[in-house]
Amino acid sequence: MKLDKTTETLLVFLAAFVTLITAYLVEQVCADNNVSSEYAIDMSLTGARLSDGVYASVAKSEENVTRNRYIAKYEFEIHNDSNVNISNWAAYITVPKDTEITNFWGVEANIEKGRLICAPEFYNLSFSKGDSLSFGVVLNTQKSFYPEQISFRGYKSGNSGGVFTKILYGAFIIWAALFVGFFVSNFNLKNYREKQKNDVRIILQSMNTFISFIDAKDPYTRGHSRRVAMYAAEIAKRMRLSEDEVQNIYYAGLLHDAGKLSVPDAVLNKPGKLTDEERKLIQDHTVAGGKMLKQMSSLRGIRETALYHHERYDGTGYPEGLKGDTIPLYARIVGVADSYDAMSSNRVYRRHLNKDEIIEEIQQGSGTQFDPNIVPFMVDMINDGYVNVVKMETADNDAGRSDFHLTEDDIPGVYMGF
Ligand SMILES: [Fe+2]
Repeated sequence: MKLDKTTETLLVFLAAFVTLITAYLVEQVCADNNVSSEYAIDMSLTGARLSDGVYASVAKSEENVTRNRYIAKYEFEIHNDSNVNISNWAAYITVPKDTEITNFWGVEANIEKGRLICAPEFYNLSFSKGDSLSFGVVLNTQKSFYPEQISFRGYKSGNSGGVFTKILYGAFIIWAALFVGFFVSNFNLKNYREKQKNDVRIILQSMNTFISFIDAKDPYTRGHSRRVAMYAAEIAKRMRLSEDEVQNIYYAGLLHDAGKLSVPDAVLNKPGKLTDEERKLIQDHTVAGGKMLKQMSSLRGIRETALYHHERYDGTGYPEGLKGDTIPLYARIVGVADSYDAMSSNRVYRRHLNKDEIIEEIQQGSGTQFDPNIVPFMVDMINDGYVNVVKMETADNDAGRSDFHLTEDDIPGVYMGF
């Protein structure tokens, strides 16, 4: 199954979207797993206090002795310089068994089995990177003591909001921008294609009308214009010219003999030998064609082709005797195609030549009548049978039908992709 370019692009967008969503969901699951993973760190408050980026300090700021009991004020400070956010945290400090709390601040505090537990007053309060926690308690004990170790516990979430998430958000924004851009340009392209299709239709209709005049003028060459156009376009294609050039050469081939409209019927269809004056009248169809098509400047090369398609590569042609590459390329290509069609068609004064005779004639004319760079393409088209395809396609017209019309399908490359 062959998909058009729009469908292919949409599938690529869809695949990218599914990939992004999948990556996002995987990242979220990982982040959730991290949130539910426990975080625990035991810190010595007497020796090295730095551990895993989280560290604590304690200060005993006051101590009073009343009836053999020690009442002391302890102030704790915990810093988070790690890369993790810690939620639902609590600090555990070992205290003598008969310790009582007389006062505290910054946390909720209670004592269980010789352990002071300090937790945030609001559940699940987050302790993020860069934060500091300060809290304090006043403890009533039987003997004086100094907390030597603090155990800090909670739940960590290291990746949420991390670099990977930011990359994913960035990728999603780029995806969205490209998707919108694709839709806008696709909409414009569609309008442009519609317009181009309509333009081609108008050109073809105009040409149908014009060609019917030319063909009516010279019934022996019915279908000649269309065949020459198809041969010329095929040569251009094989020469790897651009699609636009191939299309223009097709139009140039269609109209190359427009000047025949100015040649008297009696001269054009005369079966016998032509006088010099009559020959001059026929040769003047080039100049007449050039004048007629002067207004058609929007189709590049049309006028020049009509004017110069009877120039010869060695400079002995007409009307101006141009030589070599000074003859416009379209005219050189149409010149070869035109001569092939003349040799392969019956004319009022002779029958057509056979395949080998035609190849010999064309090769003999290489460098004299024809551009030697174009001849091999025409010879290949004869040898590989392309010319027969053209003849079959135009056979109805040769049989004398007068109702043939060009269609969009006759224009090579017009509806190919951009
Ligand atoms: Fe001609």
